[in-house]
Amino acid sequence: MNKIKLAEDTYWVGKIDNREVPFHRLILAKGTTYNAYLLHTAKPTVIDTVDLEFGREFVEYLSQLIDPSEIQYIVINHTEPDHSGGLAALAGRAPNATIVCTELAVDDLKEMYKLHSRNFLVVKDGDTLDIGGKTLKFKETPYLHTAETMITYCVEDKILFPCDIFSTHMAAQSFFADEAGFDITEDFIGYYNAIIHPHRRYVRTLLKALEELDVQMIAPSHGFILRTDIQKYIDLYAQLSANTVEDKRVTIVYTTIKNNTKKVAEQIKRIFEENQIEASVFNADKTDKDEIIASIKEADAVWIGSSTKYADMIGNLEDLLIDLKEMNLEGKIAAAFGSYGWSGEAIEVIQDYLMQTNMNVQSTSQVIKTTGMLHVEFPVRIRFAPKNEQLKKIEHAAAFVADLLQSAI
Ligand code: FEO
Repeated sequence: MNKIKLAEDTYWVGKIDNREVPFHRLILAKGTTYNAYLLHTAKPTVIDTVDLEFGREFVEYLSQLIDPSEIQYIVINHTEPDHSGGLAALAGRAPNATIVCTELAVDDLKEMYKLHSRNFLVVKDGDTLDIGGKTLKFKETPYLHTAETMITYCVEDKILFPCDIFSTHMAAQSFFADEAGFDITEDFIGYYNAIIHPHRRYVRTLLKALEELDVQMIAPSHGFILRTDIQKYIDLYAQLSANTVEDKRVTIVYTTIKNNTKKVAEQIKRIFEENQIEASVFNADKTDKDEIIASIKEADAVWIGSSTKYADMIGNLEDLLIDLKEMNLEGKIAAAFGSYGWSGEAIEVIQDYLMQTNMNVQSTSQVIKTTGMLHVEFPVRIRFAPKNEQLKKIEHAAAFVADLLQSAI
């Protein structure tokens, strides 16, 4: 057979999918590939697998290069089934293999593929693994694009296996970008915009981490392997993930019983200011309504919050919300928030009012549908005073809006 060789003892063992593939509510008109890799070292290791649908075919192909029972490690960078799906077929044929993944991925894989009695090796940021002649180094990349993801770097070969990152959706027969016969840049950017851009905050963190690695080849999970002009592709990610829009403003309005909702408002303001976005905060019970409305008219994003008392908002907020329904606020982003003790009905009532304006109201449902992210929740509901994990909740939501404001896409 014709082996697709990346480096000594390192081979492509994936699947080319020529279909028009439905994916993340897109149709991949040019198909895609599911790239998996075999590192045929003294402790043979497979990095990622293929889509669930092609698991058997994958194992058959792999079996032409190695007896699967010899495989010692299966590295799963990301649990989405277009990468981990082949595990269903491979795990049984590779009974001696330990599955290497992040802590968050373990439960996913156990549940998805009934691997409850399997050996797992949980790796953390910076951990290394000796696979007998080569060394793998792992970097956790949470939210890029799901919470459990990581990337793998082969120290000796200087190859980065970044899973979805740096991918291209194309069912090309040429495995390497430099052999494609055309410039892949447009398809590479198209993939970035569709899949990676909503997570661009985390791209910037990743690129900082990559500065410590000498990357000579990028072997992603979809499309072309990059082995020339590496820096060009990394620079493209830096350029595409950078903030492109400046001078945005946010208005935050609240009413509060015991200052907990006020503290949430202040945390929201802090996150925007850390992102170089000007934020004005108003207590609706202590500020003239016209002053608040003037600020809202100037704002690019509007946050409205209240504590809950007797299952409703408190103070002057309802008068303001009634006025907002009558105004033309098109183009502005809106979000509801509040501190509560039991059920937090006020936050939902505010959300309902905002939905009656023509603002772009953020909701958990919308975030999941457009980005797949589960850690960003709207409205922002905080029990009692904001602390610990609840502060993270505020941070994720405010940072998400900051990213929407600062990107032209
Ligand atoms: Fe290629 Fe996150 O799927």
